[in-house]
Amino acid sequence: MNILVLHGPNLHLLGRRQPEVYGHQTLQDINKALDEFVASSPHDVVLKILQSNHEGEIVSIIGDHIDWADGILINPAAYTHTSIAIRDALATVAIPTVEIHLSNIYAREEFRHHSHISGVAAGVVSGFGAYSYILALEAMIHILGPKTTET
Ligand code: DQA
Repeated sequence: MNILVLHGPNLHLLGRRQPEVYGHQTLQDINKALDEFVASSPHDVVLKILQSNHEGEIVSIIGDHIDWADGILINPAAYTHTSIAIRDALATVAIPTVEIHLSNIYAREEFRHHSHISGVAAGVVSGFGAYSYILALEAMIHILGPKTTET
């Protein structure tokens, strides 16, 4: 199964960005943890991990992977709360999607309580720091139906 992992704006500065909210792990740490999870998993998973600060680029990346991705993990970051274009892109490709947040968006400012993305996502993982990504990956493998490399 091919899984596209998309990190949205400002997540390239994780580790230095408000560590009291987002933790001390860098994006490289998170990506490494995802790769290690896949390497130690019996499931036949291929990850492609991308980060963009640009809404239109995220829309293009989603569309460009319509024939490649079996699942999408996305932390849309601030675009969660503003982007109908990213929601529409996900609805267009109709690829199972898990929305991810490091922080618990419902325990924060009110403007973060609404997500344009959740309505087109299979589910949301929010509030577990870097571990949100691993939980989301496990959920995606569950959704796609585990195909093990063993026979
Ligand atoms: C975030 C939460 C968003 O509200 C915020 O704009 C982000 C990161 C998170 O991972 O907790 O940039 O998506």
